[in-house]
Amino acid sequence: MTRGSVSQNDCRQLERSPLIGAETASIEDLIAQFGHLSEPDSGPGVTRLAHTPLERRAHELFADRMRALGLTVWADAAGNTIAEVAGTELGLPAIGTGSHLDSVPHGGRYDGIAGVVAAMEIARLKTEKKIEHRHPLRFIAFANEEGARFGQACIGSRIVAGLTTRTDLDRLTDANGVTVAEAMSTVGIHPALVSEAQWVPDHWAGFLELHIEQGSVLTSLDIPIGVVDLISGSTRLQLTLHGRAAHTGGTPMHLRADALAAAAEIVLQAEALATDTRHRGTRITVGKLDVEPGSITTIPGKCTLAVDIRDVDSDRQRESAAELIAAAQAIGSDRGVTVDVELLADASPAILSAWVRDEIIGAASGLGLSYRVMPSGASHDSQMISHICPVGMVFVPSQNYGVSHAPDEYTTAPDLAAGIEVLASALRALDQTLNPSNGPKRVEGDNDD
Ligand code: HGY
Ligand code: MN
Ligand code: MN
Repeated sequence: MTRGSVSQNDCRQLERSPLIGAETASIEDLIAQFGHLSEPDSGPGVTRLAHTPLERRAHELFADRMRALGLTVWADAAGNTIAEVAGTELGLPAIGTGSHLDSVPHGGRYDGIAGVVAAMEIARLKTEKKIEHRHPLRFIAFANEEGARFGQACIGSRIVAGLTTRTDLDRLTDANGVTVAEAMSTVGIHPALVSEAQWVPDHWAGFLELHIEQGSVLTSLDIPIGVVDLISGSTRLQLTLHGRAAHTGGTPMHLRADALAAAAEIVLQAEALATDTRHRGTRITVGKLDVEPGSITTIPGKCTLAVDIRDVDSDRQRESAAELIAAAQAIGSDRGVTVDVELLADASPAILSAWVRDEIIGAASGLGLSYRVMPSGASHDSQMISHICPVGMVFVPSQNYGVSHAPDEYTTAPDLAAGIEVLASALRALDQTLNPSNGPKRVEGDNDD
């Protein structure tokens, strides 16, 4: 296997002939097609937000390609699109793969798309090469995975996992006060029917997701494949600081209740909390800060901060949130600023199935590709699907120092092709080992850590 960066036209040298022969030209074409689906005049990067006409066009592109292959395609009441090809054995639960089609504002062309393109390439090549499988295979494009618009991440997959209900869809709003339910209705999705979208665990045998790493571990070690063992949780808060708007010239410093000065101290306190010795793996970010009235000659009377607290350790994640809230309220009372706290979203870390992880490791090793078992700092649809069936994730390297959620997000087509070969091999391994026709059905917990 050649080490070091791979030229655009090479595929990483595989020790064993690939199962499906993923093609870089086809991969690049699909990436480009989805990449064009971005809000016009929205500036740099891709902006294709949840429950917008553009996200629906991306789902239509996915559905049209899968229908053209002869697969059965349907959209569920959460806005997810599912394409299925029957297995050779009747009555077996499905094995699935896929990812999401929405983006963050000014995002990249690979987040979520890489996993959907992987599913499409596998569906295409399995169909063209008539590669059969025992279980039904389902290829999935999830809706509304990014929390960028409504705060809660993975709403499409949370609905199918039964973690987000109809009432949540009326509670969660975007920056303009539009609820998830209203946004769904504007694009022809019926929130009243979401309970019908829930997946039945007995109908699912396993789910695999390919995703870009969104970090720089794989590129820094020149390793082509990441095998995810756990996915960070995230607690998301909105802090609203009420100070006193006043004249910047007429108000002496000691008589102020400056909401922005308090917010600035809270942001630095959040950073200090996440980097103290007790926290390994905790990440706290204030990614959004609104200031009112936002005039150069008025002391800010109100600030709204959106806080994202991530951790691979569930207790520490929640403790960090509680510590930050306490620190913010102490800072506020010192400054005569009241601090209102709203919990926007909360998701626990997920430990992915050890035996599925081993199948992915077996697939990478069988292809002669080096791999690294690693946690995911980002959240993913697989985190929610792990409530339904055993899941696994394949990471492919993120170039440009691992940047993601930004226009410079980039993964090479050969790296994507290698990841797709590992995904295809792992799907085949699950198909062969699960529900053996002559033996007991494998259940979660067998040989698990
Ligand atoms: O925010 C995340 O971690 C993911 O990109 N939805
Ligand atoms: Mn993603
Ligand atoms: Mn993302």
